[in-house]
Formats: sequence, structure tokens, C-alpha cells
Amino acid sequence: MILVLGGAGYIGSHAVKELLDKGYYVLVIDNLSTGHRNSLDTRAVFVEGDVGDSALLERVFTQYKVEAVMHFAASCLVGESMSNPLKYYENNVINSFNVLKVMVKHNVKKIIFSSTCATYGLAENEFLNEDSPTSPINPYGRSKLIVEQMIHDCFKSYGLDYIILRYFNVAGADFSGRIGEHHNPETHLIPNVLLHLLGKSKHISIFGNDFNTADGTCIRDYIHVLDLVEAHILSLQEVLNTSPVGRVYNLGNNKGYSVKQIIEQCERITKKKAHVVYEKRREGDPPYLVASAKKVYEELEWIPKYSLEDMIRSAWQWHKSNPDGYDS
Ligand code: UFG
Repeated sequence: MILVLGGAGYIGSHAVKELLDKGYYVLVIDNLSTGHRNSLDTRAVFVEGDVGDSALLERVFTQYKVEAVMHFAASCLVGESMSNPLKYYENNVINSFNVLKVMVKHNVKKIIFSSTCATYGLAENEFLNEDSPTSPINPYGRSKLIVEQMIHDCFKSYGLDYIILRYFNVAGADFSGRIGEHHNPETHLIPNVLLHLLGKSKHISIFGNDFNTADGTCIRDYIHVLDLVEAHILSLQEVLNTSPVGRVYNLGNNKGYSVKQIIEQCERITKKKAHVVYEKRREGDPPYLVASAKKVYEELEWIPKYSLEDMIRSAWQWHKSNPDGYDS
């Protein structure tokens, strides 16, 4: 059985669907704090609860034969981590410690961990590879980096096989239309622009146009959620079939788009005009984060299939059909 922590969230729910479609038995733990009951796949076993609850983890690991863990359960907003850092150290660091402890105790020694390019910090117009210095500029990035280091120590001392996946900016939705992105509040750029174009907000804010980039707005590397999930499946197969494995991979498209370019693309695809308002910088935002994902292409033969246009089109489809997300 594959244990998916945070399997009712945006990325977790897409991973659960793909695992089930591929024939894996899936067990989900989610506290539904940001995840949605309606996103749950009825083919998966669901345990409602918190990853920080050691007794619950103990029960689950005793009751089920867990082969590997995919750990998506985390708080993941850069801005929020600046105003409430302890939430990040608790949800991301302490809870992951609980997970690792129970895994080692029950001799479950395979993990795929969701990390982030926010572990790198400031980059100056260069592609980030896995050997680029890690010097996060926000508590979110720091919390993920601490967990990466804990996992690596468990690899060295207890033989825990791992693949850490450092996501760049994830967007898009499954083409089935059943699952998609729904955060409350929504803070991510692409869904925010699309929800604005659907008439859900009066304007779209651009946080800072005085960065040292071509048009002054932040540059990010966007990756379709389905490509990201494909990398998880390949990583899972690798840790299940090989040992020792202790690797870190970037997941991105090796291509940067500015905030302005994203808004323009959304306008072009939806044929609607956005009302843009410039605001001051959002604290903790690095100006430029673009991946070199060469290592995972070479080692796992992972090749992203989807373009930025595919991400925006699939997300638009989801938001149009579900203007209130899972509450629609
Ligand atoms: N932005 C706006 N207006 C908005 C929303 C965002 O201008 O309404 C800007 C942000 O300031 C930033 C860029 O768009 O410059 C991207 O912001 P997102 O909130 O979409 O994404 P982040 O890069 O801040 O963070 C996301 C995830 C993290 C992940 C990171 C990797 O939330 O978990 O991508 O870069 F680590």
C-alpha cells in the first residue's frame, strides 16, 4: 500500500488519482484543513486525521502494510510563512519528524518528499540545479530545507531510501474535470488571474514591478500538475525497485515567465481583459526562480509533456466548471 499524506490537497489528489489509475493500492491521511473531502477518490482508503498526531500514525502503520510514503502534507505559502513562521515549523518540520519517526520504527524505508525551489533563495537570472546553493529567504523554504536534511540523515543512519522533489510553480488541472486547484484564500498567481477573469474579483494585483527583471515583475518556472505527478510515479518506482536511493530532483520546465507575461497569456487564452493593480512587493518573494531539471530528465527519463498554454487551458476549464471550487 502507498501511503499518501495530504492526499486531499491540490497536488496530492492528482497524485492519488494517477496512483490508482496505475493499479497501486492507496491509503490517504489528510486533516482536510486545506484539502477537500470532494477531491477524495472513492477507490482510496481514507483516514481523516493530522500527520502531527503520533498515535494516529502509529495505528495506521500497525493496521496497514505501508510500502512507501508520499508526503504532500504541508503548509506551502511563502507570504503566510513570513507572517506566521511557527505554523510552518510546526506543520512542516515537527509533523515530518513524526512521520519519519514512525516510518523508521515500522521499518518502512521508502519516501517521496515534496520540497520546493524556495529552498534556493536568491538566484540571479541563472538556471537553478540541485547543486545550487540553498539559502532560503523565507520560513517556508527553510522549513522544507530542514526536512530535506532530516531525511538525508535518516538515509545515512537508518537506510531510508528517498527522492526529494523540489517543485517549481505548479499549475493546471486533471483533464477529467473532477479535480483541480481550490485554495481558500487563493494566493497563487494563475488561479487568481483566472478567477478574476471569471468575475470573482474586481482586479488582479501585481506584487512589485521594481524587481531586477526584464519587465520588473517576478519570474517563475511553471509546471503542469500532471507532469509533476508523473515524476512522482517514476520516483516511486525507483525507490521501490532500487536501494540505496538518496536523491534530490528539481521539477520544472527550464523556462521562466514574468507575472506580466502570465497575465497576458491568461488574457489571450480566455479572450478576456484583466484589470491590473500594482501593489508593493510581497515579503519573502525571490525575484527569479527557474529550474534546470536536467538531472531528472537524464536519470528518470522524465520529460514534461505540457506547455504553459496547457496549464492555463486546463485550469480555466476547471474554474469555469467549478467557480467555487469543490463548493460549487
Ligand atoms: N503574484 C502576484 N499576484 C497574485 C499572486 C501572485 O503578483 O495575485 C506574484 C507573486 O508575488 C510571485 C508570483 O506571482 O512573484 C508567483 O506567486 P505564487 O503565489 O503563484 O507562487 P510562489 O512562487 O510564491 O509560491 C509557489 C508555491 C510554493 C512553491 C513556490 C515555488 O506557493 O509552495 O511556488 O516557486 F514553493
